[in-house]
Amino acid sequence: MAMYLYCSETQVLINFALIGLLAGAIAVYGQPGCREDEFLCVHEYDFRLGFVSIDCGTSADISYTDSSTGIVYTPDSQYIDTGKNFNISKNYIINYWYLKQLEDVRSFPDGSLNCYTINGIHQGGKYLIRSYFLYGNYDGRLSPSSSTPLQFNLYIGVNLWKTVNLTDPYFLQFYEIITMATTDYFSICLENTGKGTPFISSLELRFIDDPNSYADVTPTISLEGLGRADLGATTSDIIRYPNDTYDRTWIPWNDALWTPIGATKDIQNRPEDTVRVPSIVMKTAITPKDNTTLAYRWDAAWRDNRPMFHIYMHFADFDSVKRSLDVFVNDELKVSNFKPDYLWTSHINLTFDLGTATEYTLDIKRAAGSTLPPILNALEIYRAMYFSYLATDRGDVDGMVDLKGLYHKKLWQGDPCAPEKLAWKGVNCTISGSSPPRVTSLNLSSHGLTGGIPTALAKLKAIKYLDLSNNNLSGSIPSFLADLPLAMLNFSGNQLSGSIPDALLQKQARGLLDLEYVFLPPIQPSYAQHEPPSAPSIQRQPREDEVTFDKPLGVDEFTYLELKTITKNFGRVLGRGGFGTVYHGCLKDGMEVAVKICSYNKSAQETSSTDPTTEESDYNAKGDREFWAEALLLTRVHHRKLVTLIGFCKDSNHLALIYEYMSQGSLRDHLMGMKRKILISWRKRIEIAVDAAQGLEYLHKGCSLPIVHRDVKTSNILLSSNLEAKLADFGLSKAFHTDADTHISTNVIAGTPGYLDPEYHNTFQLTEKSDVYSFGVVLLELITGLPAVVKLGETCHILQWVQQKLSKGDVTEVVDARLHGQHVDADSVWKVVDVAKRCTMPVGSQRPSMSEVVAELKERLHHPLEVYQQSSLKVSSADTSDASLQGESLEIMRREVATSSIGRVPR
Ligand SMILES: *[C@@H]1O[C@H](CO)[C@@H](O)[C@H](O)[C@H]1NC(C)=O
Ligand SMILES: *[C@@H]1O[C@H](CO)[C@@H](O)[C@H](O)[C@H]1NC(C)=O
Ligand SMILES: *[C@@H]1O[C@H](CO)[C@@H](O)[C@H](O)[C@H]1NC(C)=O
Ligand SMILES: *[C@@H]1O[C@H](CO)[C@@H](O)[C@H](O)[C@H]1NC(C)=O
Ligand SMILES: *[C@@H]1O[C@H](CO)[C@@H](O)[C@H](O)[C@H]1NC(C)=O
Repeated sequence: MAMYLYCSETQVLINFALIGLLAGAIAVYGQPGCREDEFLCVHEYDFRLGFVSIDCGTSADISYTDSSTGIVYTPDSQYIDTGKNFNISKNYIINYWYLKQLEDVRSFPDGSLNCYTINGIHQGGKYLIRSYFLYGNYDGRLSPSSSTPLQFNLYIGVNLWKTVNLTDPYFLQFYEIITMATTDYFSICLENTGKGTPFISSLELRFIDDPNSYADVTPTISLEGLGRADLGATTSDIIRYPNDTYDRTWIPWNDALWTPIGATKDIQNRPEDTVRVPSIVMKTAITPKDNTTLAYRWDAAWRDNRPMFHIYMHFADFDSVKRSLDVFVNDELKVSNFKPDYLWTSHINLTFDLGTATEYTLDIKRAAGSTLPPILNALEIYRAMYFSYLATDRGDVDGMVDLKGLYHKKLWQGDPCAPEKLAWKGVNCTISGSSPPRVTSLNLSSHGLTGGIPTALAKLKAIKYLDLSNNNLSGSIPSFLADLPLAMLNFSGNQLSGSIPDALLQKQARGLLDLEYVFLPPIQPSYAQHEPPSAPSIQRQPREDEVTFDKPLGVDEFTYLELKTITKNFGRVLGRGGFGTVYHGCLKDGMEVAVKICSYNKSAQETSSTDPTTEESDYNAKGDREFWAEALLLTRVHHRKLVTLIGFCKDSNHLALIYEYMSQGSLRDHLMGMKRKILISWRKRIEIAVDAAQGLEYLHKGCSLPIVHRDVKTSNILLSSNLEAKLADFGLSKAFHTDADTHISTNVIAGTPGYLDPEYHNTFQLTEKSDVYSFGVVLLELITGLPAVVKLGETCHILQWVQQKLSKGDVTEVVDARLHGQHVDADSVWKVVDVAKRCTMPVGSQRPSMSEVVAELKERLHHPLEVYQQSSLKVSSADTSDASLQGESLEIMRREVATSSIGRVPR
């Protein structure tokens, strides 16, 4: 009555790979040929989901969507600057490894350490991280075999995660860990240990947004995933995203000793349930054939000297009669008389040290008096990993990373100080157990350095020895060096000029500093001294078409401190856009708002670690200008289909706009982002299109000066609690006169790839028709549920894809698959597709005006068939013309209901 859970780690992997064969993960193949810039928008989408999915070693320069999960995989070039790309041998692309990510690898013949750096991580948040390795004879050496395994080390940050051990070229090895981010970036590093060239196939990071999930994970304890089973599964599908919000992989598992059972009703998670096992996983379970014991055995070889195991068992009863069970680990009773809930998920979480036993057992037994045998729906097994090393002080890392970028030091990889054996060449650190390592010495002697003495040195606040001798450094000696705790400073053999700052000379005079310098010639009047280092102040170049920095009128002004309070210290990020980050906030009167922080002046003194503005992009005049353009425009235009500006904040270091809060996020979130599980019906999609079209029509026609939005896209269409749409983000808008010109010329193409009017792109002539084009793309996204730019078959743009599909004559092919099974009238789809196609005509003059678009879409909305489909009619009192139309439609509907038994409605 024993079942070996997994005999060895290897077998887990084989199981995974074999089951993967049946999982229906389909790669989307296509021809390269998309422009590099187009992939930016896809990356943004990916980020918003809290997922980072990296196809390592791909030669493609564009992201693509995995069609089974809808997750976007990005090329790895933005995360790493070392290594070489290879395709694996065709012989190893076996059907069941039809995961495109695994067809190529990035290999690291040079350097002992090579790292992926993934920024934008929620510090203190938990992440599920998976790494994949499929050798596939990519280098033609057929090297790993059981006699000569290929081995190298894998690090998360400064801690060893795993020694990768490959013994077969066919093997897909993958590792999984749940870990807490102790920094706002992850570096995932591969160390060459002299046993073959390290390589990697794919990396996946999944943010676990509920802080109470996997409570065993702490800054020092991570959980290494050993198995996650969907017990009693009736199909061979691996369950992952979107069923599982965290994209955990639930592997189906059955055994001859078990009776699989299933529920007919859905299993629910209580609101406070943080584990969120998907209902589809919980709906199947097993009971023992002998009606008494579910027994698991696993090999102690698994313990790998770390015998602390964490086991999560998930239960839900399908039978309203209560059963009760006891849980034993190595014959020791751990839980007694546990009663699974009927149709609700409940859990047992056990942590135990298995010590030196040779075999481990987990027995779930029928408790005395239980009328039914024990049950188990799903099981997760983890091993604790202790991550005791700390990453280097953040300021030191920043300074060193700046220097690395400045001097193109590719050999500097991972953390500057830790682990000690992998510290950067020329860097010495103090490493104490309890506080982060500090950079105390930097020797860049004879490195051929040019330019001025880098300001990045100012960030090395613990540095004692600095040797910059024998380089070609020029310019003056900055006085900030006197603020550092330097005991030795060597500048000899450079072309420095100017005088030595007094503060340094004083330190030397007091014997605090050993200052070695040879500088020629000792000329030039001494430059400004005793000045702290500061970023160059912003020099604005006023331009003719520029909007001024006048304060917006008719809205409230806030101080930065007030914003801190309103946003609870910038605790909740709603999104990130081209100009900065948007935070959730709450005004004193309880009104919810969205606070958009633009940018940041680097020289500001106030930079606490929780201050989100330290992450913001450089404060720059361009962003500033566009930001105020938006603010001013927003105060001038008021329409119920445009997001309302409530206030602003502007001081010397901060710029912020406060808007009404749109609780349902963006249309993009709903179509393909984190809200994609909320299905928007066909009718609702047309309503949203009409809302957005009306907002745009108002911008074009309703203001005294027509306004071109310039950045119409699904992430700029926001949804209220009842899914009413409003247009947002006027950052790129420019007001212009129609009297003299029908267009304005701009010398910079702004906007988002995928939505850009090709005519504007070629001619730099901006008209309202550019917005019409972008709106057409939005319509296509509403129809298909796909992003504007993504690799779809042979094309990169949604328009080409739709055209290809339509050429086959069947309009249902282009409709969002999630709408299948719902009533969607083909005539209606044709009509909306037709509007979208005309909006996206290559020549602007062939496109309809927004007024025409509004009229045509509204007509669709009030078409008898659509009205008939509508379950509840909503009459908008704010718009009387709408209301009267609705009344008319009601009439049509009544007639329609009366005649519906006759058959098809004529168009
Ligand atoms: C590597 O894997 C092989 C085959 O599974 C095994 O025999 C060997 O002990 C492993 N080596 C290490 C260092 O884990
Ligand atoms: C287990 O219970 C089922 C249903 O009560 C019964 O049909 C079956 O014979 C039992 N099996 C054993 C081994 O007792
Ligand atoms: C810096 O490195 C050079 C050799 O690269 C060495 O000669 C010099 O002594 C080092 N400086 C210090 C302060 O250790
Ligand atoms: C340093 O500058 C001198 C004079 O400008 C030049 O001749 C020399 O080639 C430079 N050396 C390096 C390593 O750049
Ligand atoms: C400074 O660097 C020069 C050239 O590398 C060397 O000769 C000198 O000894 C160094 N001085 C100190 C104090 O290390």
